[in-house]
Amino acid sequence: MQATQYIYFFTYDDTESDLCKLESKNIFATEEKNRLVFSDLKVEPSSSAFIKSRIDVISSSEDYTSLIQNIKEEHISIDDFKVEYLIFEGDATRYAVRLNKLRDIGCVIEGLSEYYNPTTIFALCFYEGIWYFGILIKDEVDWHKHNDKPRSYSNSISIVVGKSLVNIAAEGDRANTLLDACCGVGTIMLEACFSGFDIDGCEINWKICRNARENLSYFDYDATVHRSDIKDISKRYDAAIIDLPYNLVSCATESDVLHIIKSASDIADRLVVVSIEDIAHLIVSVGFRVMDTCVVSKKGKRKFARRIWVCEKNEEVHLEGLTEMNNRNLESVFDL
Ligand SMILES: C[S@@+](CC[C@H](N)C(=O)[O-])C[C@H]1O[C@@H](n2cnc3c(N)ncnc32)[C@H](O)[C@@H]1O
Repeated sequence: MQATQYIYFFTYDDTESDLCKLESKNIFATEEKNRLVFSDLKVEPSSSAFIKSRIDVISSSEDYTSLIQNIKEEHISIDDFKVEYLIFEGDATRYAVRLNKLRDIGCVIEGLSEYYNPTTIFALCFYEGIWYFGILIKDEVDWHKHNDKPRSYSNSISIVVGKSLVNIAAEGDRANTLLDACCGVGTIMLEACFSGFDIDGCEINWKICRNARENLSYFDYDATVHRSDIKDISKRYDAAIIDLPYNLVSCATESDVLHIIKSASDIADRLVVVSIEDIAHLIVSVGFRVMDTCVVSKKGKRKFARRIWVCEKNEEVHLEGLTEMNNRNLESVFDL
């Protein structure tokens, strides 16, 4: 039987499914399947835009009667609780049966239930032949407040993508130091600060840099934004995120892009780069290799796509180093 401590439930739309898979691979070392990840790693749902909820598993069993007996033996004594039934892929349990099961659980928990304002929510679910019971922790969506930052920028990425870039760059590990190498108004930095990551920013344009600082202080986040060309940053970081400049507001030639990637590669061994062009040859030219890549298109604007490149410094630098999956992804990227 699957021994697991936490079950994560993901939600995303079609344009974000590859990004969600890339993020879950980098946090949990496994891709989400059927919108679920079973893991022993504890992650706050609000640190990812895609994790809707987490179940802290208390008991699991292939046999429903044994599960109820196990819960009874836990002697859970609590008031103001609620029990929710989560329907996962492959669970055909009918509504009336689900209701009865919720009642079964309510009967073995000692205390008064509270439907509207529960202090603790328990969850029951069935997946691949196993019943799971545990405490349900939902995404508080508090981070959506960042949409109301005082300073915005037409070139900004969405907060969903920003959150994901942070998790991918840090591989979910708060011990890893991060640099947002072209931070703009700080969209990525806000998400990193919210989730407790150690991040600095760098922005060449002083007006935009000032706006990033204003956004950070508006939410009481204490993070450094360097008003600088990335080439002048000498501090080392575990990973750098680069949302490359593009289009009319911040145009960039290939040599500008190479300059930024090269400068970041001098101070970080891991890069997560966002581009709208094929930059594989530039990544290879600075002595890095593409570990993974994915495409994120804009909702309702499938022709406008950003490409995310996860790159690491490597001794053997060549395009053949791309996995078969990367090659498939790259083909679809260039078909766009
Ligand atoms: C696409 S924007 C970043 C947007 C940002 N992610 C946000 O959400 O606000 C790229 C930024 O890179 C900055 N930039 C361009 N060249 C740079 C360099 N050499 N060093 C640091 N920043 C640079 C531009 O001024 C621009 O603000």
